[in-house]
Amino acid sequence: MKISPSIISSRLEFLKEEIEKSVSAGASSFHLDIMDGNFVPNLTMGPDFIRAVRRSTDLELDAHMMILNPEKYWKIFSSAGCDLFYFHYETPFDFHKVRNEIRGEKKKIGIAINPDTDPARILDLVPYLDRILVMTVYPGFSGQKFIESASDKISILRKHIDENGYSCEIEVDGGIDANTGKIVKKKGADVIVSASYIYGGDIGERIGILKSL
Ligand code: DX5
Ligand code: ZN
Repeated sequence: MKISPSIISSRLEFLKEEIEKSVSAGASSFHLDIMDGNFVPNLTMGPDFIRAVRRSTDLELDAHMMILNPEKYWKIFSSAGCDLFYFHYETPFDFHKVRNEIRGEKKKIGIAINPDTDPARILDLVPYLDRILVMTVYPGFSGQKFIESASDKISILRKHIDENGYSCEIEVDGGIDANTGKIVKKKGADVIVSASYIYGGDIGERIGILKSL
């Protein structure tokens, strides 16, 4: 299982140290929860924050764009050092235009789907994606309870990807700990995001537990 820690729950006054601990424990990328106070009722990090993260690690930085008009802002986050961009299916944007632009910058694209979004809506896009982000909480805050019914989408997407031989990975975000991590692994997740579980305890130990699920 690949682990993408969401540093939103790290002790930000020790950001570099927390990032280094996560890297030593075997994180495969970092998950950056970018929120604008409009698409979600919370406000988090901007490009200067991302630059500080970029200076602290060479691992892949995944931008979870919980913002209105991601089409306008992704380039600022790309210049700041992000490598992959999750656009929410629920925000309007021109998928193929954005994908071509992101590919032009040799970066990766993913689509995020909210707990009540039908995965059938994105099946046509899967061949063009590097990753899908299945939300198992409503976006906005870390520390929420895992919505088990939303995780059923993982199996549907897994089947679609495997039957068609697509290379797209499935990442799962929201309420993941040692127990819920097992559930999503069984349903076919490739990568899991975790914020409050990893940074609410011993980082090395908790990443180790999630990796070995
Ligand atoms: C929710 C974010 C998640 C969140 C995960 O809006 O997209 O990435 O930070 O936090 P936990 O792991 O605490 O549910
Ligand atoms: Zn996220």
